[in-house]
Amino acid sequence: MTDTETETHTGTHTGTGTEAAGATAGEEAAGDETPPLMVAGHMVPVPDEIEAFDLEVEGALPPELNGRYIRNGPNPPPGSKNPHVFTGAGMLHGVRIAGGKARWYRNRWVRTSKLAGAERERPDGTRDLAVNAANTHLIEHGGKLLALCEGGLPYRITGELETVGAEDFGGLLETAMTAHPKEDPGTGRLHFFGVGLQEPALTYHRLSADGELEFSRSVEVPAPTMMHDFAITEHHVVWLDLPAVFDRELLGKAMPVRWNEAYGARLGVMDKSGLGEVRWFEIEPCYVFHVGNAREDDHGRIVLDAVRYDRGTWDATWPVLGGRAEPQEGGTATGTVLHRWIIDPAAGTVSETQLDDLVVEFPTLNENRTGRRHRYQYLVSQEPAAAVVRYDVASGARESYELGARWTVGEAVFVPSSEAGVPGQEGGEDEGWLMSVTTDVDGTASELIVLDASEVSAGPVARVRLPRAVPSGFHGSWIAE
Ligand SMILES: [Fe+2]
Repeated sequence: MTDTETETHTGTHTGTGTEAAGATAGEEAAGDETPPLMVAGHMVPVPDEIEAFDLEVEGALPPELNGRYIRNGPNPPPGSKNPHVFTGAGMLHGVRIAGGKARWYRNRWVRTSKLAGAERERPDGTRDLAVNAANTHLIEHGGKLLALCEGGLPYRITGELETVGAEDFGGLLETAMTAHPKEDPGTGRLHFFGVGLQEPALTYHRLSADGELEFSRSVEVPAPTMMHDFAITEHHVVWLDLPAVFDRELLGKAMPVRWNEAYGARLGVMDKSGLGEVRWFEIEPCYVFHVGNAREDDHGRIVLDAVRYDRGTWDATWPVLGGRAEPQEGGTATGTVLHRWIIDPAAGTVSETQLDDLVVEFPTLNENRTGRRHRYQYLVSQEPAAAVVRYDVASGARESYELGARWTVGEAVFVPSSEAGVPGQEGGEDEGWLMSVTTDVDGTASELIVLDASEVSAGPVARVRLPRAVPSGFHGSWIAE
């Protein structure tokens, strides 16, 4: 989200669901008049930074796990004028695991210049991209840990969660950076984009495997939209140009994003080299925060799976996320469901199908399959009960671990066991673990749960009791030692 992302859920939510969107302008956007959003129960920000050692574990942590689980999310500091959750300062919660033990927990704000009070606009009127909430994701690439937020530059973080500073890749990154870059498992390159309210509205970038910015180009779109995610395949980048259009009239009143039916919706296919034209394919208007995966099939078609919001679901969700009460337009509200588009470049067509009817968000997978054929998609649901879900895209089978009505569940990050899921191997994709932070709805307790990804319905193999309630947040990663 614009600097903002938030999660919510469709409907009432609670938990995890949606994220935020924010847009690149969001935050400035939200302004001080935006009402506080979801600041009760499991959403309540923590007031301080703590650490705790040798955490209690129920069950057995897999001995092979040696690293850190780090999750990002908005956490407005005490006394914030505007505690709108989308725009809150990023806070990292980390758990160090080694030798079958949970060695420590700690939480730290990302020490951005925004947190220090800097203005987004410089005296000369230019935008300081370092001024952003850094509240949406945390990834590792090229040996750097980066806290991400689509409203600006990433922030480099240490393994102890201390902030190093804003990262512009040697001065080469001149746009914001999405919170959802894609690392190609074949090349190790990191593909990403930046959205801007000013031109260029959309810019494609690529980092080499060792973290050098090696390519940037602008991509022509009719207007800046809240493009939160995108996809790669083996040979292509897939753009989602959807009708969540920035609207300057909303600046200072709410998140400056509005559904614009007239904008239409289209998927764009671009060669991954970044060279050549983008080929656009019109689709039914919808919105997507999160892509599950994309791949090429044996016929050269591009198969894209993502969590889709229809118009009715958007109308039920965005006024809450966007900090603005407005009449709902009605229309079908299927909820946020897993959906598939198949683009056939040879025929010039695109078809789409709803894959499942469970209301879900936060799709994850074995990232060794990013842009390649995958079989298992992991998701979380809050309705009818908080659950971690494993969906088999080949058979349509679904299994889940339900936490019950008293709990909320965050994104379930897949952690491969050693060589699992290498592209080209049919077996092994689900050999690994899922990690998720759960918080009770009253905001009194949290656990880091670890599930066997091949046996989700069996429930956690380990539960690490965290020393405090961790507010529901957005995205995170397992950083192997
Ligand atoms: Fe996201």
